[in-house]
Amino acid sequence: MTERKLANSQLGSLEYDPAPESAAVARLAPSYGLFIDGAFTDPSAHVQFASINPANEETVATVAQASAADVDRAVASARRAYESVWSKTTGAERAKYLFRIARIIQERARELAVVETLDNGKPIRESRDVDIPLAAAHFFYYAGWADKLDHAGFGASPRSLGVAGQIIPWNFPLLMAAWKLAPALAAGNTCVLKPAETTSLSALILAEILQQAELPDGVVNIVTGDGSTGAALVEHPDVDKIAFTGSTEVGRLIQRSVGSSAKHLTLELGGKGANIVFDDAPIDEMIEGVIDGIFFNQGHVCCAGSRLLVQETVADEVLRRLVRRVEQLRVGDPMDKNTDVGAINSAAQLARIEELSAYGEREGATRYTSSCVLPEKGYWFAPTIFADVAQSHRIARDEIFGPVLSVLTFRTPDEAVAKANNTNYGLACGVWSEKGSRALWVAQRLRAGVIWANTYNRFDPTSPFGGMRESGFGREGGRHGLEAYLDV
Ligand code: NAI
Ligand code: MG
Repeated sequence: MTERKLANSQLGSLEYDPAPESAAVARLAPSYGLFIDGAFTDPSAHVQFASINPANEETVATVAQASAADVDRAVASARRAYESVWSKTTGAERAKYLFRIARIIQERARELAVVETLDNGKPIRESRDVDIPLAAAHFFYYAGWADKLDHAGFGASPRSLGVAGQIIPWNFPLLMAAWKLAPALAAGNTCVLKPAETTSLSALILAEILQQAELPDGVVNIVTGDGSTGAALVEHPDVDKIAFTGSTEVGRLIQRSVGSSAKHLTLELGGKGANIVFDDAPIDEMIEGVIDGIFFNQGHVCCAGSRLLVQETVADEVLRRLVRRVEQLRVGDPMDKNTDVGAINSAAQLARIEELSAYGEREGATRYTSSCVLPEKGYWFAPTIFADVAQSHRIARDEIFGPVLSVLTFRTPDEAVAKANNTNYGLACGVWSEKGSRALWVAQRLRAGVIWANTYNRFDPTSPFGGMRESGFGREGGRHGLEAYLDV
């Protein structure tokens, strides 16, 4: 008895030793140019900007700011490659390149994971176990489609679109590059990719990988820069298709700009995902799923389960368990293999999270914030739960895109569905219940592109992903993901 008590109290004070991954694995150059026509080149205006590590505010490397003239060079290169090489390359041949890229990503996985974590601030455990393996999986998956397009359900010999302009965000930098490039190349298009300005580096390592794979010059071009670079790509007259992932605000601008042209468009925008917990849900699994649903990747996830809807009968217990679990999350050095929650990606994003959270308190919600000690340098936000949230509160309506969970309650399945659908977004939802029939009943009534049952944030290249309403349109992943790059 005494021994057991002792053991328990020792366990209670158990501390982890630091387990840092080595930054030297990254082998980054001090500065990078633009990747155009198969080679790295200087930007025309010779402007470089710093890509910083948000965990300590140090510069990781500098990257080039592409001007409209540079974007024009990149599009011209993609057009040449399309006309002279890629549109004449057989599906089986295109597949070989995609398989090669997938394998090299696997070979360089540790290096890519370290680069991603240094540049983005996400925990190394996540870049190592989620981002990089999934990026490789997307190339493997679409490599398998490249020679089977006739059998994809889009008629015989579906045609590619031409040059695709692709603009991606900072939350899953390499993975979003893979989501965009793999289906486009499999379908026979050439690409100009614009990474987000705070996280360009893994895309530039990917450029090296494309060289290593001997992908023909110009099939993929990578232009780094800010929103003005993205806008130049969107407005370029010789681009046939725009694929965008990012904010609803910029999505609207792009839709307006593309609307008057013949360009094809797919948009993957924000979300305010409802995670619905019924009183018969298996509680331990559910608590882990809800925690993962909002604190994975610091909550910088468009499909995050940021609105928890709990059945009233179990609301007190669920909240108590969640608050206790949040206290156990290890927040800090993203390069430490034991870290659960890393740094917020940028000062701007931190300011946005702080502003929206302040509304939570002002509008009368009850705030629980982890007592974790935050590092002094860098951008940090302690995991936070708001209880007593009303549907009218801003924290129940606006996408916070940070480690902040809003908890609401419901009594009946009908009320759960009504509350879940009471949003302008429609990207993802979750349902937790022991009863399969109930999960299906709810899923059929939810207006969102992705519904998870008794799990959350599951990603797989074979499964289509995308939104409705203000979350955008078009699908990425699976057979559906090919449609966005075919003239069907
Ligand atoms: P953003 O939409 O400005 O950035 C996404 C990408 O669009 C970046 O590559 C950026 O350079 C580019 N871009 C910016 N302005 C552009 C323009 N006029 N034309 C073409 N491309 C342009 O998103 P931001 O400012 O980084 O984040 C703001 C909010 O957006 C976040 O707090 C979050 O709520 C949401 N967001 C949603 C994402 C998602 O995965 N759906 C990803 C990133 C942000
Ligand atoms: Mg960075």
